[in-house]
Amino acid sequence: MTLKETADSVLEKLGLMFNPFYALSSEALEKREKTHVLSSDDVKIINSVNTVLNGETKKIIFIAGVFGSGKTEKAKIIESYLQRKKYFGAYVKVDTSDVYAIIDRVLYMFMAEYRRKNPGEALLTKIKEYLGKENLFENLTTKAFLKNEKAFAEALPYLLDDIKPFYFILDEVENVFQTSVSEQKIFFQFLSYLAEKMPEKCIMILCGIPSAVNIISSIHRNFYHKINEIYVINPLTDREVEELVKKRLEIARKPELKGRIGSLHPFNLNAIKYVNRVAGGNPRKILKILKTAISALFMYPNIEILDEKFIATILSGRKGRRGRGKIRLPKNLSKDLELIVTRYGGQPVSYLELARVNGISALDQYERLEKLRELSLLSRKGGKYYVPNEMRETVLKTLNIKTEGSE
Ligand SMILES: Nc1ncnc2c1ncn2[C@@H]1O[C@H](COP(=O)(O)OP(=O)(O)OP(=O)(O)O)[C@@H](O)[C@H]1O
Ligand SMILES: [Mg+2]
Repeated sequence: MTLKETADSVLEKLGLMFNPFYALSSEALEKREKTHVLSSDDVKIINSVNTVLNGETKKIIFIAGVFGSGKTEKAKIIESYLQRKKYFGAYVKVDTSDVYAIIDRVLYMFMAEYRRKNPGEALLTKIKEYLGKENLFENLTTKAFLKNEKAFAEALPYLLDDIKPFYFILDEVENVFQTSVSEQKIFFQFLSYLAEKMPEKCIMILCGIPSAVNIISSIHRNFYHKINEIYVINPLTDREVEELVKKRLEIARKPELKGRIGSLHPFNLNAIKYVNRVAGGNPRKILKILKTAISALFMYPNIEILDEKFIATILSGRKGRRGRGKIRLPKNLSKDLELIVTRYGGQPVSYLELARVNGISALDQYERLEKLRELSLLSRKGGKYYVPNEMRETVLKTLNIKTEGSE
């Protein structure tokens, strides 16, 4: 049997069309609304957003959480909620250390909406009329902002009032801290103006790791004081994780089996509780363990129920009850894995680098690494592949590399 056939037959036996835990980042998940579990934190945040929608107020909210705790997921859920309410706005991720590029992106979005609402009306003329200032928004870029900061702040309401009410979500705020302190200050000064000039009924939501809040308070106290509410994401409860697993399984389950098979199958409740304990209630960690558990069935074809013991076995990388603990790989995949282990110690390495070393095309290399990833032998972060800790033992066995303590 080829690897693909083995994988398919494992999923077939479980009545699944694909590994339900495969999409690990909420950006990648198309059916987010179907798999989202409404946590008590979500309810609090949505209630807070509602006070803005229903009242005469504006709000700046900070959603703080460690990596993988569900910040982006929350941001996207709130965004769809606001869009259903016909709110205009945008989700912007700080994905570059160029703060000016981010500011440009935000201004461009506001400006585009202004133009959509006021075709033919020149904002510049209007602002000039009011302020007697020229060229302020001419090339609506950060440079305009920097050139004449105070005038920019004065002019901002003319732009924002015409596009209200709006929301603005800024994700991964901590990436701003990769720039120089002076650039960070410029960035938060910009947000500060935005917060101040933002009309009633508008919402600004920032998402970031918890320490980002402290850093903002030391970099730009003024903006820090403008944050109205801070929500620190709580770990998921066992019940929430159970619901999460059921929802994920549901969308992957073959239609003909729906309702005819336990909604947690092949897991049992203890396994779910165990996973939650190990992962400390962190959704990304939970999904990762569950994904590995399903993939690990390739090695343990006789196991039917994934219980606490099985998960513990997988996590410790030890040999399972009836398992082989070793995966047969085609030569080229085995070669790639060996290269990553021996030359890079299993640490992240980009597929471009590996393609260069192997002398093959980037696309071929990428496809090979993705096959190893499907087998859970590798994980990926950005364009880099590495051996996840929980799979080290299996990988070493697969490559016939002896380790201390191995039988
Ligand atoms: N309440 C939830 N219900 C269902 N799935 C969730 C929930 N919260 C998070 N997830 C899932 O957990 C994973 C991690 O969440 P997310 O990407 O939002 O975390 P994050 O805090 O933004 O991580 P990072 O710090 O890396 O940006 C995603 O796959 C997401 O779909
Ligand atoms: Mg995120």
